[in-house]
Amino acid sequence: MLTLHPNYLKPWQCHPSTPNQPRNPRFSLLPKSRTLHSRTITSNTLHENNQTTQPSSASKIKRLVLSPEGRTKLNTYPDRDFYAFPRFVTHVDDNFIATLTELYRERLSPGSEILDLASSWVSHLPKEVEYKRVVGHGLNAQELAKNPRLDYFFVKDLNCDQKLELESGCLDAVLCTVSVQYLQQPEKVFAEVFRVLRPGGVFIVSFSNRMFYEKAIGAWREGTAYSRVQLVMQYFQCIEGFTEPEIVRKLPATGGAQGDRSPFGWIMRLLGLSSGSDSFYAVIAYKNFKPIHE
Ligand SMILES: C[S@@+](CC[C@H](N)C(=O)[O-])C[C@H]1O[C@@H](n2cnc3c(N)ncnc32)[C@H](O)[C@@H]1O
Repeated sequence: MLTLHPNYLKPWQCHPSTPNQPRNPRFSLLPKSRTLHSRTITSNTLHENNQTTQPSSASKIKRLVLSPEGRTKLNTYPDRDFYAFPRFVTHVDDNFIATLTELYRERLSPGSEILDLASSWVSHLPKEVEYKRVVGHGLNAQELAKNPRLDYFFVKDLNCDQKLELESGCLDAVLCTVSVQYLQQPEKVFAEVFRVLRPGGVFIVSFSNRMFYEKAIGAWREGTAYSRVQLVMQYFQCIEGFTEPEIVRKLPATGGAQGDRSPFGWIMRLLGLSSGSDSFYAVIAYKNFKPIHE
């Protein structure tokens, strides 16, 4: 189910017709540099001024990565119930956030159009950089409404329905921070991310060792730091058309939050809270400019 924030009447579209523009004047959905009438995007083919380019938006799942058991959660209640109340906390420590912000500074060009998947009330984008548009997605509207960086947001449980209500090939970047472990259908979500990216667009998936244990999928809960990186790499590799994923790691000097094996540490991890420094992992891949098989 898709829920849109009441301030915004229609799903965000990259090339909307005038009646679809939201009321809020902050959001110019039709940048002056792009003319609406000369460009129409359909799901798989981009026609520009009557010229057809490669069908670069089609996404194909080559194989399933997870077994049925690997997708299970200990807490089987709907995710939307779990996120019904806002959590105005940060889920990772300052070092993790600083590393992530620096990565975004390096990889995301100013003026980009970005989707922050599984977002919350905070943004990790560098404050000084201006982007053309930042769209947020998450499960708690109150959190998303507080996020100062979002021009627009939508609420959707990706374990119920993976379709993103966005046009194909309309984004330069998709981000997913400390949330990939909650996806029960990651193959379909990654295929959707591929679809909405422009050729050359980047998907940055970052995570630490923290999690809401009861809500993380079995394959993640039972894994190690190494196997989790491998898992996310496989999510990318199972989609035809992503470049070979790249790994960025930054480990704390002394073991990190996962190192605390005491009952207190276990309870903190169960609650998705933890003291100590968080290990930083990011897996990054780009949408190929040309389809691999034509
Ligand atoms: C630990 S928070 C991370 C929030 C944010 N990315 C950040 O860095 O602060 C995990 C997020 O995963 C998202 N999430 C969890 N389960 C989800 C689901 N089934 N569908 C969509 N999003 C989900 C929620 O939006 C939640 O805010």
